[in-house]
Amino acid sequence: MRRLVRETHLQPSQFILPLFVCPGTGLRREIASMPGHAQLSVDEAVREAAEAERLGLGGVILFGIPEKKDDNATEASSDGGIVQRAIRAIKPAAPSLLVITDVCNCEYTSHGHCGKVVDGDVDNDATLEWLARAAVSHARAGADIVAPSDMMDGRVGAIRRALDGEGFPNTPILSYAAKFASVFYGPFRDAAESTPQFGDRRSYQMDPANGREALREIELDLEEGADMIMVKPAMPYLDIIRQARDRWQAPITAYQVSGEFSMIMAAARNGWIDGQRAMLESLTAIRRAGASITVTYFAKQAAALLAPPVR
Ligand code: PBG
Repeated sequence: MRRLVRETHLQPSQFILPLFVCPGTGLRREIASMPGHAQLSVDEAVREAAEAERLGLGGVILFGIPEKKDDNATEASSDGGIVQRAIRAIKPAAPSLLVITDVCNCEYTSHGHCGKVVDGDVDNDATLEWLARAAVSHARAGADIVAPSDMMDGRVGAIRRALDGEGFPNTPILSYAAKFASVFYGPFRDAAESTPQFGDRRSYQMDPANGREALREIELDLEEGADMIMVKPAMPYLDIIRQARDRWQAPITAYQVSGEFSMIMAAARNGWIDGQRAMLESLTAIRRAGASITVTYFAKQAAALLAPPVR
C-alpha cells in the first residue's frame, strides 16, 4: 500500500556523478575525506564513466586537477587540458552517458580563487572572458552540457554568446545559479586541491541567510539564457529548491555536495547511523523538494540499489 501511494520516486537517470580527473595513467588517488572517491587519471575516469553508464546514470560532471596552476588559469581553457582530454576519452567509451563539465577557474589558479585576481580581489568582468573560453574549449572537446560554477555576474550570457559564436548553439548551459558560500564544500576542496590561498569566496558566493537573493540570482541566470539551473548545497537549502520549482519551469538541479556526503559516510562508519537509509532518505527529500536532477557522490551506490526496479 505504501508503494502504491508513494509520491516521490528515485531513478538512476536523475543522478549525476562527479569525477575528479588528474594527469598520469593508472592512477586512483583515494580522497581521505570522501570514502569511495578518488582523483582519477583519464584512463581510470573512462572506467568509472563506463560503470556509470552501465548503472544507468544520467551523466558525469568532470572536475580537473591540472598539471600546473598559474595566475591566469591557463589550463582551464587549453584544448590539451586535463578535462578536455577526459571528455575526448569518455565520450566514445560511454556514448549514452552525458558528459557535463564544471566551468570554473579555482582548480587552475595558483591562488585558488574562481577568477582573475586584481588588487587582491576577484575581477568579475575580466573573469567572464576566461569562463567563455573554457566553456568553448569543453564544447569543442565534445562536452554535452557546460556548467559554470564560478558565480560571476553575467557569465551565463557571456558563455551563451561565445558558444553561439563558435558554432555550439546546441550546447546547453546548466548554471550553478544559487550557490552559497558554504562550509560543506570542505572535502571537495581537498579533492580538487582548490582551497583559496588567501581570503574566502564570500565576494562571489551567496550568504546562506539570503533566500530572496537566491531567487533573484536564479531569475537573472534564466534571463541570460540558462537552460537548467542549480541550487547548491542541497539539503540545507530545500526551501530554495521548492521555491524555484514553484516559480519556474526549467529543470532544477540540486548538488548534494561533498560535506553532505562525507557527514553521512562518517556517521555510518562510526555506526551512528544507517548509511544506506540516510543516503536514500536524503536523496528522496531533495527530490521531494522539487529537484529534477541531483548531482551526488552517492550516484553509483543509489543506482545500484534502485535497479533492478522495486518488485
Ligand atoms: C568550483 C566548485 C566547488 C564545488 C563545485 N564546484 C567548490 C567551491 O566553490 O569551493 C563544490 C562541490 C562539493 O563540495 O562537492 N567552484
